[in-house]
Parts: sequence; C-alpha cells; structure tokens
Amino acid sequence: MSRAAHGSGVLHPGEDKLPAMTNQTCAVTKAVIPAAGLGTRFLPATKAMPKEMLPIVDKPAIQYVVEEAVAAGLPDVLIITGRNKENLISHFDSVPELEQTLQNKGDNFRLRQVMEASELADVHFLRQGQPLGLGHAVGRARNHVGNESFAVLLGDDLIDGRDPLLRRMIEVHDAQQVTVVALMEVPPEQVNLYGCAAVEPTDEADVVRITGLVEKPNPEDAPSNLAVIGRYVLRPEIFDIIEGLEPGRGGEYQLTDALNHLALGEGERPVLGVIFDGRRYDTGDRAEWIKANLLLGVEHEELGPELREWLVGFVKSLA
Ligand code: UTP
Repeated sequence: MSRAAHGSGVLHPGEDKLPAMTNQTCAVTKAVIPAAGLGTRFLPATKAMPKEMLPIVDKPAIQYVVEEAVAAGLPDVLIITGRNKENLISHFDSVPELEQTLQNKGDNFRLRQVMEASELADVHFLRQGQPLGLGHAVGRARNHVGNESFAVLLGDDLIDGRDPLLRRMIEVHDAQQVTVVALMEVPPEQVNLYGCAAVEPTDEADVVRITGLVEKPNPEDAPSNLAVIGRYVLRPEIFDIIEGLEPGRGGEYQLTDALNHLALGEGERPVLGVIFDGRRYDTGDRAEWIKANLLLGVEHEELGPELREWLVGFVKSLA
C-alpha cells in the first residue's frame, strides 16, 4: 500500500494518479472472482480446500459464479486464489484420461458435465500472496484488468441464475459510467455481518445513490439495513484508492473502505446501489451452505423428486 487515501491523505479528483479515462465510456468485459480467503467460518472443511470448492448439489460453488459471469456477458474471468489453489485450478482444466474413460463407457451425460467447466470461459488465475483482505485481493487484479471497468463476483456468494443481478448492474454502469454495488435488505440484527450502506433514492425504484458505507457495523450504528452483497461493477480508479488504503476492520484492506472514499465524493462520480430481492446463498456460512444444497437440491432435475419426498417425511418426523 503506497499512498494514504484515508483522512488527510484523500485522493482528489484530477490528482496525479487518477486514470486518464475518467470521461471516456467503457464496456465491462472482465470478471474478477476473489477466492483466496481463509474460510475460517467453515473449518475444518476448509483446512485443505478452498470454501469456493465446496459442492452445491453436484458442482463446486465457484463454477456457479463463473457461469453467472459468462451469463452476464463476461467470458474473461480472473480468479484470485490463495493457499490450496491446486484443486480450484484443476477444476477448470480438461482431464483427458477421465474424458477418455467416460467416452469409452459411452457415458455422454457425465462427459458433458466434466467438460463443461473447462469450456465455460477464458479462466485466468492469480495468487493473492497473503490473504490481506478483499480490497487487497481486488487490487491484485490491476494488471489483468487495465484501464477498464470490471465486475467483481465473490466466489462464495451465489446469486440464483433465475434472478439475474449482474446484468442489471452492468446496465446501470453502462448508462451512467459509475461504480455500482449490489445491496440487499437484511434483518437489522444481521447488519454486523456485512458492509452496510447509507443511501438516497434515485428516479429508478431499484437504484439508490450510496452516500456512505461502513464495514460490519454494530446494529445500533448501522446507517440502514441495506447490506453490500458480493457483486460489484467497479471503475479502474478503484485501484489507486485501494493502493492508498490503510488496514481497516480486522486489520484487513477492505473493499468497503475503498468504495466509501468514492461514496463520500472523493471520486468524480457517484456510487450507485442496485437493490436485489432475489435468491442469494452465502456458501461461506455453514447453515447457509446446507440451505443452498437443499433449496437447489429439491429443484435438481435428477435428484429433486427423491429429495423432496424424503424431506417431506423428514419434516413430519420433526413435528
Ligand atoms: P470473507 O469475508 O468471507 O472472508 O471473504 P474469508 O476469509 O474468505 O472467510 P471467513 O470469514 O474466514 O470464513 C469474502 C470473499 O473474499 C475473498 C474470499 O475468498 C471470499 O470469496 N477474500 C477474502 C480473498 O480473496 N482474499 C482475502 O484476503 C479475503
């Protein structure tokens, strides 16, 4: 971190390192997926495996996230990895011997499933080095992203494919060339688990202007019950701000702190929030992970009928 952006060291518009493209329109073509966190809430499962590789029904969580990026029109995907990265990378590789075996058996269904992940997108990997926080992980993407706007999708946060959010966020970015953050209403007692936004309404019902952000506030200090969830469309000026960050909550470089600098008017443009009210699963949380498996399991074409029948009987046995 080279330059202070906190307190008196704020970044002023027009200052030395502001990118040259501030008045230029720019399309979003790249997705960055941070997946280098320690996953302590899910220990011991995550002792030797990233939480993003935990399966949701029959696919690792990260594959759903890559699929979401592709569905939103972003086939260039950079995954930020940490320790235990090997199986995450392998998942997006082709496995010729396995493919050959399935082909020899005539098991075309499983062959297609195995090949899906390796053909899904143009997937790149970069190591974070040390898990110094989400802001730091995003900052590592600078060389890959260059001077363009880009999307960030947290690798442990699933947005149900039937409730597209990222496409709407990109639409809002493209219309106004601004930073866009996904927000979701949460019960007030849960705001301490999230970044939390102070907002003002705009002319569009699902879009608000963010006037401040606090990382994991105590409920009594929270400016609202609108939580920042794991989708962002960021402009490239975020990289200078991240480089200037001081460690924030938990001693980590927080993306929320970098966004707060923009929201407080230290960039040239506002920060907008798109309010999401669809289905979202935080797969880094054990109970939420179990719920995600049940919710998507009962709707699974092959497994759904069996699971549904079992669940109905199981629930009766609990009553
Ligand atoms: P979390 O806030 O869930 O942190 O990260 P964590 O360390 O992964 O998990 P817990 O809280 O200890 O259980 C949100 C997202 O940011 C990534 C994580 O992989 C996750 O997708 N992340 C977090 C990084 O890539 N690097 C970091 O240094 C921190």
